[in-house]
Amino acid sequence: MSEATLEGAVEEAARYVREARHVVALVGAGLSVESGIPPFRGPGGLWTKYGEPDMRGYDRFMDDPKEWWEQRMSASGSYKELVDALSQAKPNAGHVALREMEELGYLKHIITQNIDNLHQEAGSVAITEIHGNRTKLRCVGCSDRWPLDEFPIEELPPSCPGCGGLVKTDTVMFGEPIPRDALEECIAQTQQCDCMLLVGTSAAVYPAAGFPVDVKRSGGRLIEVNPNETPLTDISDVVLRAPAGESLAGVMARLRAAAR
Ligand code: APR
Repeated sequence: MSEATLEGAVEEAARYVREARHVVALVGAGLSVESGIPPFRGPGGLWTKYGEPDMRGYDRFMDDPKEWWEQRMSASGSYKELVDALSQAKPNAGHVALREMEELGYLKHIITQNIDNLHQEAGSVAITEIHGNRTKLRCVGCSDRWPLDEFPIEELPPSCPGCGGLVKTDTVMFGEPIPRDALEECIAQTQQCDCMLLVGTSAAVYPAAGFPVDVKRSGGRLIEVNPNETPLTDISDVVLRAPAGESLAGVMARLRAAAR
């Protein structure tokens, strides 16, 4: 996208954000690419390299949770490249811009598909992690969650001190239902939303990929922030065809200027 066109698109996006009542950001792996974390699909994507995992991940866990935990405790797990990148990653300009947009009162909520905890590290507050968080554990029964380093694992599989349920990593496995509390919050935010930022997502995974369609159907505006086309490009009101760090920082600069 030419500089001039991007300028115009950033200007228009900032106007849409200013004019909106309830802005929500739907975030995907693309936002964390500039933090050194590979995406899943497209060029350099993990699934592109290693193939998409089958949908039986959760079934395998539930079939033998002890075996699953023993594997997890012994090896560094699969996708060492992802594990290493996650452990070294820091928030980038895109994460910071979303935090600032929240502080200025424009951004009401972030629905993130990312498990990397970088929104929290950037200081954002109103966040729903639809695919969980890599730094937490969760009870399959009551959905109680604990920071990893605050839950001593004395037995395998670990069980919930509250309801006795099975405890697993908070990240949502392939084939696992989205935890009810997270899904309900996503639906509630989508129903209130009249302007959704689509940041770095290929819109390939549901239910997340359906939220923008619901916003559009209820008359809301969509702002796509992505260097590449996606299935949502055609229904987006404005497209920032550039990396998220640059695009969102540009939108933030105009919102700050308007706030003065
Ligand atoms: N800025 C913005 N977007 C970017 C950038 C960048 N710097 N770099 C890449 N992108 C875009 C790509 O063009 C692509 O559209 O980010 C998107 C990443 O798509 P995916 O890798 O498919 O990630 P995501 O949409 O988050 O995947 C959804 O799939 O595998 C599951 O659980 C996993 O949460 C993940 C879900």
